[in-house]
Amino acid sequence: MSRTRCDRTPAWAQLREHFDTQGRQLDLRQAFASDPQRFERLSLQAPHVFADLSKNLTDAGTQAALTVLARQCGVEEHREALFAGDHVNRTEDRAAMHWLLRQPAGGMPGQPEGVRTALAEVHAVLDAMLAYAQAVREDAAITDVVNIGIGGSDLGPQMAVLALDEFVDQRKRYHFVSSVDGHELSAVLRRVRPESTLFLVASKSFTTLETMTNARSARAWFTAHGGRDIARHFCALTSNVQAAAAFGIRTTFGFWDWVGGRCSMWSAIGLPIAVAIGPQRFRELLAGAYAMDQHFRTAPLETNLPVQLALLDLWYRNFHGFTSRSVAPYHSGLRRMQAYLQQLEMESNGKRVDETGAPLPYATSPVIWGEPAANGQHAYFQMLHQGSDVIPVEFIAVRKVAHGLAEHHHKLLANGLAQAQALMLGQQDAGGHRQMLGNRPSTFLVLDELSPASLGALIALYEHRVFAAAALWGINSFDQWGVELGKALAQAIEPRLVSGDVAGLDASTAGLLQRLRPGP
Ligand code: F6P
Repeated sequence: MSRTRCDRTPAWAQLREHFDTQGRQLDLRQAFASDPQRFERLSLQAPHVFADLSKNLTDAGTQAALTVLARQCGVEEHREALFAGDHVNRTEDRAAMHWLLRQPAGGMPGQPEGVRTALAEVHAVLDAMLAYAQAVREDAAITDVVNIGIGGSDLGPQMAVLALDEFVDQRKRYHFVSSVDGHELSAVLRRVRPESTLFLVASKSFTTLETMTNARSARAWFTAHGGRDIARHFCALTSNVQAAAAFGIRTTFGFWDWVGGRCSMWSAIGLPIAVAIGPQRFRELLAGAYAMDQHFRTAPLETNLPVQLALLDLWYRNFHGFTSRSVAPYHSGLRRMQAYLQQLEMESNGKRVDETGAPLPYATSPVIWGEPAANGQHAYFQMLHQGSDVIPVEFIAVRKVAHGLAEHHHKLLANGLAQAQALMLGQQDAGGHRQMLGNRPSTFLVLDELSPASLGALIALYEHRVFAAAALWGINSFDQWGVELGKALAQAIEPRLVSGDVAGLDASTAGLLQRLRPGP
C-alpha cells in the first residue's frame, strides 16, 4: 500500500502557496463573471447524483492542484487496496468490504479467491434474509416491526425507511429503539402487542450495552404479556451468532467482521429496510450503491465525485480553516440524513493521529450538522448568512416527488436555490445590520427522484468520500477507539449510582452522582 500523508507531498506546499497568493481571495461573483462556463466546468454527474460544485471557493487551478495532491497521497492505490480486500483497517487488522455487500453475484474478473468466497457468503445471506423479509411482509398477523439497535445498527435502517416512505408497506408500522433511555422502549411497548410484533435485535457485536439492555427488557415484556413464541417474534442481525443463540434467538442473519458498523445497512442490518420496501426494492438500493462503487473505482480522479468532495473537505478544513459543514436536505424524507452522516463522517474521520499512531499537524473531520428542508432556514440560516464563521453548506434536492402537491415542491426547491444564491451573492450594498458579505460556499447535490437506487448511490457516495478524505489525511477511518473509554467508565459508575460510593471519583462526577442518585 503506497500512501503518503497529505502534508508530506510536494503538492501540499504548492497548495499552501496557491492558497496564500490566490485561493484565499477567490470571489465567487467574480469567478462566475469571468468564466461563463464555470457551472459546466465545475459540475459532475455521477450515477444518480448530479453535483454542482461551482459555488465552492475553488477554480480550475485549485481543483487541478488538489487532484495532484490526491494522486501524490496514493488515493488511487488506497482505493485499489480497498477493493482488493486488503486489510485497510490496520489498527484492527481487517478488510473493509462493505462494497462487496452490493456486488452482483459472480463477482468481478480477477477478484482474489478470498473475496470471491466472501461474495458467495454475502449472497447466501442476502437471499435468505430477503426470503425472510418477504415472509414477514406476507404475514398479516405481524403489524409492528421493532428494530432494537444503536449507531450503525440503527441510523442507516431508520434513515432509509424514512427516506423511502413512498415505497414502504404501510400495513405495518416500523419502530426504532436505540437509546438506553427507558422512555424510548416504553413508548414503543405501550403501542404494540406481543402476538403481532417482530423484534429485530440488531448489533454487530451483540454486546452493546444499550441494545442488550433494550433487548432483555423487550424479551421480559414479551413473556410477561403473554408472548409465547420467542423464535417467531425475535430475530437477530449480528456477526456474533453465538451470542444471539445464547440470548435465546433462533432466527439469525449474520455478517462479517469486515463490515464496519457505520457501513452495515447493506448487510443483514438492512433487514428492516427489506421488510419495509420489499426484496426487489432492497436489491435496487444495492444496485444504486453498486453503480456508485463502480464510479468511485473507475472514474479518473478529476471527475470522481467522492474524491472531488473529499478534496473540497480538505481544502476547507486545512486551508480555509472552516470547522464544520452543514447538510441541508430539501426533502423531509431525508430528515435522519444528518444523524446518519454524523456517525459516518465523524466516527470515521474524527481522528487526531495518522494510521501509524503519529499525531497529525492538521485538522481532520469537520463537524457535520443540519436540519432538513426549509426548517433550518427559520432556525440557524441567519448564522450561515451573517455569522462570524464561514460554514460550507451541502444542499440535497430532489427533482421529482410523488406527493402531487406541485406548488409545495416548487416553493421548496425555490427556497433551496435561493438560499444557495443568497449565500453566494450576499447583499454587500446594504449597510450595517442588513449587510451580507456573501461569498459563502455551497455544494448542491441533485437527485432526479428519491428512489431506492438513488438513495443507495447517495449513501455510497458519502461512504467513499469519507474513505477518500481519510486516504488524504493518512488516517484509518474504520476504527473508533475513542468511544471505548466512556463505555468502560459508565460500567464503573452504574453500581455507584445505586451504592452512592463516590470514593476516588473526581469532585465534579462525585457531586453530580450524588445529585442524580435515585431516591424517594
Ligand atoms: O460505540 C460505537 C459503535 O461501536 C458503533 O461503531 C456501532 O455502529 C455501534 O456502536 C453499535 O455497535 P453494535 O452494532 O455492535 O451494537
